[in-house]
Amino acid sequence: MKTLIARSLKFESGVVQVLDQYLLPHQQVWHECRDVATMSELILTLKVRGAPLIGLAASLLIGYLAEQGKDKNTIARSIDELEATRPTAVNLMHYMARLREALQANDWQQQVVTTAEQLFEEDTALCERMANIGAELVNAGDNILTHCNTGALATAGVGTALGVIHHAAKQHGDIHVWVDETRPLLQGGRLTAFELDAWQIPYTLICDNMAASLMAAGKVDKIFVGADRIAANGDFANKVGTYNLAVLAHFHNIPFYVVAPITTLDRSCPNGAAIPIEQRAKSEVTGVSGSFGDCQWAPNNAEVYNPAFDVTPASLITGWVLDTGLFTGDDVLIGAFKKD
Ligand code: MRU
Repeated sequence: MKTLIARSLKFESGVVQVLDQYLLPHQQVWHECRDVATMSELILTLKVRGAPLIGLAASLLIGYLAEQGKDKNTIARSIDELEATRPTAVNLMHYMARLREALQANDWQQQVVTTAEQLFEEDTALCERMANIGAELVNAGDNILTHCNTGALATAGVGTALGVIHHAAKQHGDIHVWVDETRPLLQGGRLTAFELDAWQIPYTLICDNMAASLMAAGKVDKIFVGADRIAANGDFANKVGTYNLAVLAHFHNIPFYVVAPITTLDRSCPNGAAIPIEQRAKSEVTGVSGSFGDCQWAPNNAEVYNPAFDVTPASLITGWVLDTGLFTGDDVLIGAFKKD
């Protein structure tokens, strides 16, 4: 496979390498990955995370295994195993479907390698297009609120919602970002803050439960978030806490945009109720671990509810910023995202 380099994922020196996103921002550790068990573990523990990036990391590993001369059955089994790691972000399923298709060709080894490379390069281009389309919605002086991490760490390019913020800041100079810390795993506090810092875009970190009072005070002009799966009717799943923001935005009359590539669309999924939502370990809620410490504050026997994502209904969304254009509720009503 050719050398491919993104912010948190690369194929270099003949091996797949991932930046450990669970240890960021205080430790920058790269892991080499040569087998399905290692990649599955990296994805399950969120060392590799973000809807596009999960699928791309899995794809590069499949490309690597094909190049290493693994047989067709082993590759097919590996695709199945990687596809089962996390259930909500649909990019992974789309990418694995593309690789399964490549596996049907006579020269399947070459086709699998080429497809893995293409998926990576396509994502970079998709990010660029979304960022340009979304940046047009931003005005100089805007205070933008975002949730979770949707930047270069989560994709092969500049990102989804954070990519829009990046390009808007480049165009207008003076925008400010409210960063939801994003409990329980703090992707906002750790990763989005880290990326905005590096890009020198002014931001203020807030706990998730502070967004309402900011909106009431008129301090939020627009909200941009990413998505892990968009259903055919426009409902979408994203990091838990996104729905809260959408309800609040509706109440306060603040534009609420979702930014995602077409690889996040799932036309076979009729609406948000049909999106599978990943449930995660109780330890993520009863305490913290990782580079930010290791402690438990809740009683040992506390019952915990820990869905990784929630679903926002289409009726609360001002616009869907896809790489193919800006869509509104009317577009969705007449047959969902026709321009792609
Ligand atoms: O559990 P994570 O960190 O993989 O969740 C990531 C998100 O929810 C992002 O907002 C999403 O993947 C959209 S854009 C990269």
